[in-house]
Amino acid sequence: MKPQPSLTVCLAFALALSAHASSGNQSPASDKARRSVAAVQPAAPATAQAQAVGETHAAVQVAQQDGAQPAAQSSATAASEPFSVEKAVQTCNTCHGPDGNSALPETPSLAGQTARYIYLQLKDFKEKRRENPLMSPMAANLDKPQMLALAQYYAEKKLKPNDFKADAGKIKHGKAKADEVLCTMCHLGGFMGQNEIPRVAGQRYDYIVKQLKDFRAMKRTNDAGNMTSVSKTLKDEDIEALAHYITNIN
Ligand code: HEC
Ligand code: HEC
Repeated sequence: MKPQPSLTVCLAFALALSAHASSGNQSPASDKARRSVAAVQPAAPATAQAQAVGETHAAVQVAQQDGAQPAAQSSATAASEPFSVEKAVQTCNTCHGPDGNSALPETPSLAGQTARYIYLQLKDFKEKRRENPLMSPMAANLDKPQMLALAQYYAEKKLKPNDFKADAGKIKHGKAKADEVLCTMCHLGGFMGQNEIPRVAGQRYDYIVKQLKDFRAMKRTNDAGNMTSVSKTLKDEDIEALAHYITNIN
């Protein structure tokens, strides 16, 4: 695990952003004002047309121009200028990598993930059903059309094969375990996922291990119990073997 410098940059970046966000929110009154502006933005046409990203994008721009007030400016991604997916992802990609292909430990790739799953995770981070000190502040100020647009953006990117050196013996153990536990009953053949079930194929090794351990320890509980019950039966060696197997699927 080498990429320390970029992780440090990333951490500094996150801290700067959260400091920025809190300095803009000193009084409960201004916080309330900011939130009510955010709540107004996704109104009417934006939500109705949210499925079609092109339209959503336009709708968000209109909503933001209408609602643009100084109180809205403390948001990390929705500043006074109109929301732009291309600009927003520059921030996301400092951690999630170019086009959502992550090179940072314990940071997931987003490229090729299902749009529905990405959207639901952003919503869960925002509503604190899932928490992470680096990620939670990133979702805090996104509204629904913005989340849908970001989800669509990453779902359309191509996940590049990662360079993890998987061990043949562990791959075999991992595959046997996956068959035994019926992971693919939910995640589908080849762990490609669909809708709210995430793609795990080709995901970073260290991130898969962390999530399985977080589910097992009930540190991550936004899965409606699906993963908690599965992961309870897994030993550390199983988790590592499963991750060797799944990270190696392209
Ligand atoms: C400062 C680093 C950082 C930035 C910037 C960042 N993220 Fe994250 N993100 C993370 C980390 C770390 C996780 C994993 C959290 C965990 O372990 O549960 C994560 C998780 C996620 C997940 C869940 C993925 C999965 O497979 O479950 C999504 C979706 C996501 N981020 C989207 C975004 C988007 C969209 C942006 C930009 C608006 C963004 N992130 C910006 C660090 C970051
Ligand atoms: C009963 C259905 C079900 C089964 C069986 C299942 N999963 Fe999951 N898994 C899910 C769902 C649903 C989620 C997403 C939870 C959420 O929305 O946060 C998930 C999430 C995950 C994640 C986190 C992905 C990410 O990007 O953060 C990993 C890793 C994972 N599963 C691996 C496995 C493995 C390995 C197995 C078999 C040992 C397995 N799953 C079995 C339903 C299932």
